[in-house]
Amino acid sequence: MFSPKNNNLLLAPMAGITDMPFRKICTENGADIVITEMVSARGLIEGSTKTLRLLYIAEENNAGIQIFGHEPLVMAKAAKIISRYNPLFIDINTGCPAKKVIKSGSGGGLLRELDNMREVLKAVVENSGVPVTCKTRIGFNDDYSDEIIDIIRETGIKTIAVHGRTVKMGFKGIANYNWCKYASKFDDTKFILNGDIDSAPKALSLLSAYPEMDIMIGRGALGNPFIFNDIKKTLEGNTAKEVSFDIWLSIIEKHYKLMLDYYGDYGIILMRKHMGWYLKGMPQSKKIKDFIFRSNDYNEIMKVLQNYDRIA
Ligand SMILES: Cc1cc2nc3c(=O)[nH]c(=O)nc-3n(C[C@H](O)[C@H](O)[C@H](O)COP(=O)(O)O)c2cc1C
Repeated sequence: MFSPKNNNLLLAPMAGITDMPFRKICTENGADIVITEMVSARGLIEGSTKTLRLLYIAEENNAGIQIFGHEPLVMAKAAKIISRYNPLFIDINTGCPAKKVIKSGSGGGLLRELDNMREVLKAVVENSGVPVTCKTRIGFNDDYSDEIIDIIRETGIKTIAVHGRTVKMGFKGIANYNWCKYASKFDDTKFILNGDIDSAPKALSLLSAYPEMDIMIGRGALGNPFIFNDIKKTLEGNTAKEVSFDIWLSIIEKHYKLMLDYYGDYGIILMRKHMGWYLKGMPQSKKIKDFIFRSNDYNEIMKVLQNYDRIA
């Protein structure tokens, strides 16, 4: 499924963020594999239009679809539906820390109910027409990643992404990679490193310790889809060049156009959060952000950006 080469670079699934436009932008900038926002298995079998829209991957050949749920039967049905969309793989979310999700026993809630987690994973594996992967965390309250890895492998899943935090930690504290020691024992399973990888040097130092693993990037790609090519260049032994203003602007322009094509005028509003990230830490950016966050006019926004002098 994944390229047999090591060190595939993946865009992490992020609800409200990894929609088709952002996935395309990241692919164009070096992401090998991308994953949809998480899709509710129940929403899917109930035919929710909002949920079905999340499955749109028609023009992408490097996209996996992520589902979450806690009922094996519902997950089985959802796996069958998703398979018809022919994604690269179905990824099962066993790590989401959102209160509503864990309360229902889905996402990270599965790590408190390992027997049910096993049934959920099996149901998807047995009913999917495409490969199945799992994205998880190191535990719920504390680290029992060895046991989690064992259970996932038992179900036949051979591609596992681990975010090195517990569910309880949410996004706080520092991700650890202690789980890699145990994971490295299994030649038949592809492991994906995730958590706090936000620069090429960080990726490189992890890959020098675990050269057979893949890398998954979430927040590090916000406003910085260039991170994927930076890592690729660094891995090839070249120095990643700073992104020029013209390239930066051309990616933003493309991102806006994809958002407008996909969402219509609402794309301008949805693009605001991305602009917050693209402009983060840039000189004089407050003024320009204030303008962009109020404007609904694409041409006006592009004009202001074209005149924006980053070195201001
Ligand atoms: C806004 C946001 C939404 C997220 N949504 C999902 C999701 O839908 N599914 C999932 O498995 N993880 C989700 N995550 C977690 C990320 O995929 C990733 O595991 C986490 O951010 C750690 O990686 P990072 O440090 O590279 O961001 C989300 C994270 C953020 C910040």
